[in-house]
Amino acid sequence: MAKKEKDKRKKAKRGKGKKPGCKKPKLTAKTADAHDLYQHSVQEPSVDVDIIDRVFRRENGRRPLSLREDFCGTAFISAAWVKSRKDRTALGIDLDGPTLDWGRTHNIEPLGAAAERVQLLEKNVLDVTRPKMDAICAFNFSYCVFHERRELLRYFRAARRSLTDEGVFLLDNHAGSSTLEDCWDERKFKRFTYIWEQKPVDALTQRGMRKIHFRFKDGSMLKNAFRYDWRIWSLAELRDLAAEAGFRRTEVYAEEFDEEGDTVAGLKRLKRYEHDASWTPYLVCWK
Ligand SMILES: C[S@@+](CC[C@H](N)C(=O)[O-])C[C@H]1O[C@@H](n2cnc3c(N)ncnc32)[C@H](O)[C@@H]1O
Repeated sequence: MAKKEKDKRKKAKRGKGKKPGCKKPKLTAKTADAHDLYQHSVQEPSVDVDIIDRVFRRENGRRPLSLREDFCGTAFISAAWVKSRKDRTALGIDLDGPTLDWGRTHNIEPLGAAAERVQLLEKNVLDVTRPKMDAICAFNFSYCVFHERRELLRYFRAARRSLTDEGVFLLDNHAGSSTLEDCWDERKFKRFTYIWEQKPVDALTQRGMRKIHFRFKDGSMLKNAFRYDWRIWSLAELRDLAAEAGFRRTEVYAEEFDEEGDTVAGLKRLKRYEHDASWTPYLVCWK
């Protein structure tokens, strides 16, 4: 199983049809930039923006304007959010100053005037409740850094307090039986190979290590570019926590993909779903 199977499948198809004659220098472990590789292989901000927009419009009949991107890292989603409409604002929150700095330089400053509509905060997501936003997202399973139920509940409560009355909190879920198992999954991109390593999850704590490595064409390797000590929360646990935190309703959405990684049925609200080996549902929590 790999992180965000669907995105990587789609991304692995990228690069086709590019113009000839603009060859980039060869990437190696020494020259590569881990954030750049991560964004290229793991993230697809336009998909995230689209999902937030669609669920919010379906519920409230208007477009969401303000987004808080929790665990924002390089603020890739915040940048895509303000780019998507002139009246949109974004607040990105992350604990890690150097990662935020990278995002400012590579994702926010290149936006030009739109950069003024993005604010980045070097803070713990547990400690921020203002300003109130239309939407808050915590994507790529980052909330799994919270290992204790009471910690995750505190986070959900803080997120709820940070929403406008029509607001929505969205999370994605690292779901399926294979998330509990050992795994080494490689995915080839044009200039590097992305590797997702999973250690088995401890049955007593539900915790397991995940690592991202990158291998290059010269054989060099960027080992442990990213490491995560995660608790693997189930969708049912997350829904219970959301109810306990005061969210009035939760919904589960998922996209259906074919073998090629192309969407076949679009984003669907699920009523039931048989356990799958690997899938990434979205939990949508309404204030
Ligand atoms: C898996 S990365 C997520 C990057 C990006 N948002 C994405 O969707 O791929 C997790 C990020 O969460 C940040 N982080 C971890 N604990 C945090 C906390 N309590 N508050 C804010 N940020 C936190 C880390 O610094 C790291 O940048």
